[in-house]
Amino acid sequence: MTDAREFRNALGRFATGVAIVTTRTADGEPWGVTVNSFSSVSLEPRLVLWSLAKKSYSLEAFKKAGSFVIHVLASDQEDVSNRFARGADGKFVGISCTDGLEGSPVLPGCAAVFQCRNALQYEGGDHVIFIGEVHHFDTSDRESLLFYKGGYARAANALTDLAELIRSEYVAAT
Ligand SMILES: Cc1cc2nc3c(=O)[nH]c(=O)nc-3n(C[C@H](O)[C@H](O)[C@H](O)COP(=O)(O)O)c2cc1C
Repeated sequence: MTDAREFRNALGRFATGVAIVTTRTADGEPWGVTVNSFSSVSLEPRLVLWSLAKKSYSLEAFKKAGSFVIHVLASDQEDVSNRFARGADGKFVGISCTDGLEGSPVLPGCAAVFQCRNALQYEGGDHVIFIGEVHHFDTSDRESLLFYKGGYARAANALTDLAELIRSEYVAAT
């Protein structure tokens, strides 16, 4: 195994959620990328971060953006995650978005949404680190999509809930 592969494998032992970050360029074009580098930074002020590869097609759009929206994906949004992880046009085709901060597209059906001002950017090796100041956030009861060891995973909550339902029905019936 190469050093780079070993390093990736080691990083993949840290289970994360999956997010799509969107923005809109000055000429009105929507942009979006799938990331798992999202993390919380500060509670007061409310700051979050994510990082984007310098080789990414979307880098210039996000460097110039005044704001962006971070969507924490729900467990049934694997296909949306894959769509925004491809360096291709037409990522937004067929998705009915609403307009968020400064017109950044807000995707439907997510577990949580953070609308942010593009507050700070730092060089981070082959990535740029973006710090967002959260202006508005929404949370839903949807279970989150997880990413672990290089693949998608689901939280155990649904199974735990089902086991609890079966147990309570069993107790009620006996
Ligand atoms: C689960 C998952 C997590 C990812 N996380 C990141 C990330 O944190 N940063 C990054 O630059 N690319 C990440 N990628 C890869 C980008 O989504 C991919 O390179 C995408 O093509 C970038 O879009 P663009 O080429 O249109 O800019 C991730 C992909 C997947 C599937």
